[in-house]
Amino acid sequence: MARPVPAIRSLYVCQQCGTTSPKWAGQCPSCEAWNTLVETVVTRAPPSAAARARARGAGGNGAAAVSPIGDVSSAEAARLASGIGELDRVLGGGLVPGSIVLFGGDPGIGKSTLLLQLAASLARAGSSVLYISGEESSSQVRGRAERVGAVVDGVGLVATTDLATAIGAIEALAPGLAVVDSVQTMVSADLGGPGGSVGQVREVATRLAEVAKAGATCVALIGHVTKEGTVAGPRTLEHLVDAVIYLEGERLGTTRLLRAAKNRFGSTDEVGVLEMRADGLVEVPDASRFFLESEQPPVAGSAVTITLEGSRPLAVEIQALVAPAGYGSPRRATTGIDVNRVLMLIAVLARHAGLNLIGHDVYVNVAGGLQIGEPAADLAVAAALASSLRERPVREGTVLAGELSLSGRLRPVARAERRLAEAARLGFTRLITGPERGGSTIKHRPQGSETVAATDLREALRLALVEG
Ligand SMILES: Nc1ncnc2c1ncn2[C@@H]1O[C@H](COP(=O)(O)OP(=O)(O)OP(=O)(O)O)[C@@H](O)[C@H]1O
Ligand SMILES: [Mg+2]
Repeated sequence: MARPVPAIRSLYVCQQCGTTSPKWAGQCPSCEAWNTLVETVVTRAPPSAAARARARGAGGNGAAAVSPIGDVSSAEAARLASGIGELDRVLGGGLVPGSIVLFGGDPGIGKSTLLLQLAASLARAGSSVLYISGEESSSQVRGRAERVGAVVDGVGLVATTDLATAIGAIEALAPGLAVVDSVQTMVSADLGGPGGSVGQVREVATRLAEVAKAGATCVALIGHVTKEGTVAGPRTLEHLVDAVIYLEGERLGTTRLLRAAKNRFGSTDEVGVLEMRADGLVEVPDASRFFLESEQPPVAGSAVTITLEGSRPLAVEIQALVAPAGYGSPRRATTGIDVNRVLMLIAVLARHAGLNLIGHDVYVNVAGGLQIGEPAADLAVAAALASSLRERPVREGTVLAGELSLSGRLRPVARAERRLAEAARLGFTRLITGPERGGSTIKHRPQGSETVAATDLREALRLALVEG
């Protein structure tokens, strides 16, 4: 008796030339590119009863319902505030119903903890939450929930790795938030590939995005960051979701930073600062003080800058160590700041301030695990390097903020007033910065604090360092 031939559900599609193949191969048979074949669904399993009912409700005769833009209500009105202030800041005010948000991060950084705390916080505020765990059993999740105080009525647990089961549970419960932990463990039966493969991850995210958009459920997807630093499959996932939030930090340290890499509903400049404790992640409301490790009076090789991460000014200590190099080319290593920017500053110091670091190893570190991308940190980095080389500390009570050009001149910094206010709040009395754009823009000067404008690096260093 002939066996029934199973219907083909998926094919391998080359991401470069579109050629399809029934079997996986390392090299595309047509364009000969390597590793471009990704499994893709061609025939889906029959939709669930709920999905069919929804399709009927939406006029499922194939014709799209077109609405005048003026008649469409905006989703902005009703955000679900997470209750975790630092997370809300990064999300842009809370979760948008019907959206899908990806939470990425290194293994063990605290993704499950954060999302469980979010689940509990929303449940306390009256929303229903479904936590779908593909990584851990329900009792493991319960154990963590006990530790972080997240055993709250209104949080439902499902342990499954089957996508259809997960979607069925979301459709049946229609929760305000569904957490899927993690996208790499969910498996769609429509594809033959293993969980975590590019095809699977894409399919899981696509289906969950559909489920989120169809109802008012917000889906929070947890994703592991791969060695290359992206969430499984070169950026495929990031396109499919509404927002991508990264939880960052050094694993052994306790500081955790939340940062949006993409946000359809808010700015991507904001950072949230959390601290990992035994009872979970706690907010760090006075983040500025948190990053400020500097000793007063200052020691040589340290300079403080006020950086603006989004709308939030943060005081950060830049530490530099300049030491005579051994044989071979000198080492230049940085943490928290782009090494190329530091190389540029080393060249500017040599050319325009007479400080030659050739023959010296140079190490630059941003205290507290923060990553600084703002050029306004230039002046503090240069001052820390000069301070270390000359063994002269920065004057007490001084902060620096200014971008350096290759000519050694200082450029005006944006929002100098906010930086000065933050510096004054933390007890600094002097902000050394570039010339103010179009005359003085600082209207309000906190009492007892001053800004000192320098035109070039040499002048700024003379003002900043104590006399030798
Ligand atoms: N008892 C505890 N006391 C303090 N911190 C703890 C405790 N248990 C766990 N942690 C912290 O929680 C982290 C793990 O958190 P969590 O399981 O949420 O991370 P994750 O990002 O979901 O990890 P994975 O990638 O394995 O799923 C640990 O690295 C540790 O810092
Ligand atoms: Mg986890």
